[in-house]
Amino acid sequence: MTATLTRPKPTPTLKLAGNEPAISVRDLTAAYREESVLHEVDLDIPTGALAAIVGPNGAGKSTLIKAMLGLAPVIAGAVEMFGRPYAEQRRLVAYVPQRSSIDWDFPTDALDVATMGTYGRLGWFRRPGAAERATAMAALTKVGMADFARRQISQLSGGQQQRVFLARALAQDAEIYLMDEPFAGIDATTGRAIVVLLRDLQARGKTVICVHHDLETAPEYFDWLVLLNRQLVAAGPFTETFTLDNLAAAYGGSMRALAARFAAVVETPR
Ligand SMILES: Nc1ncnc2c1ncn2[C@@H]1O[C@H](COP(=O)(O)OP(=O)(O)OP(=O)(O)O)[C@@H](O)[C@H]1O
Ligand SMILES: [Mg+2]
Repeated sequence: MTATLTRPKPTPTLKLAGNEPAISVRDLTAAYREESVLHEVDLDIPTGALAAIVGPNGAGKSTLIKAMLGLAPVIAGAVEMFGRPYAEQRRLVAYVPQRSSIDWDFPTDALDVATMGTYGRLGWFRRPGAAERATAMAALTKVGMADFARRQISQLSGGQQQRVFLARALAQDAEIYLMDEPFAGIDATTGRAIVVLLRDLQARGKTVICVHHDLETAPEYFDWLVLLNRQLVAAGPFTETFTLDNLAAAYGGSMRALAARFAAVVETPR
């Protein structure tokens, strides 16, 4: 018997099943020194998906994103974006790293960080000009950070810094957005603003993949689930994959506590 957690709201704009994959991960194994972190992960993420990578701490979620970007040590397997290796598709891919992994002391302001998003289309040796600054400013406005454009990044709050890095990704105008915990440590209002931004990207045909920790909001925010714990537990539409069995497989013993927390929202199977 498979109980389903909060039933995801249907996403009327999306028929993902037949879409060409934006990302194909084939038998991916990644390891840091002797520690194998991802083992034979095999999955497709369809174009236009709003996908969540979910799993416990240390599950390899950040490593999976980094492996997609060629930033993690891949032992075997491959990742393709629209059928080609990342090295050939760089410009199409925007990345928002996990906040804790960024050195916030570098001396630069919010507008400079957002402008970095435009570098890909500038090519070698060209410096950003008025057009790039305007694009960056528009992105800062979109995330509600226009008033902080000239503020040093180290003098912004954590949530504000997060928004600036989102602006950098938006300024890039990519096709695939990889975001490592964009909702971590931000307030509810900012969270809702980010959801609106992500849905806007999806409405424009972009593919968005976020590492996400909150099981309560996951089915509401996203339509595609990648459930991970060193190995792939499940990947597919939330409606098919967000089950207690799968969550138990990913979270192990701690799932009992999770199930208790979720008792109020677990639906009786029909
Ligand atoms: N650069 C590194 N060198 C060695 N080990 C690493 C490195 N980065 C991550 N690891 C290890 O790989 C495992 C997976 O880490 P990863 O950051 O991918 O997990 P995660 O699922 O993103 O966790 P979290 O929810 O805490 O962000 C962990 O055991 C971690 O200690
Ligand atoms: Mg992580």
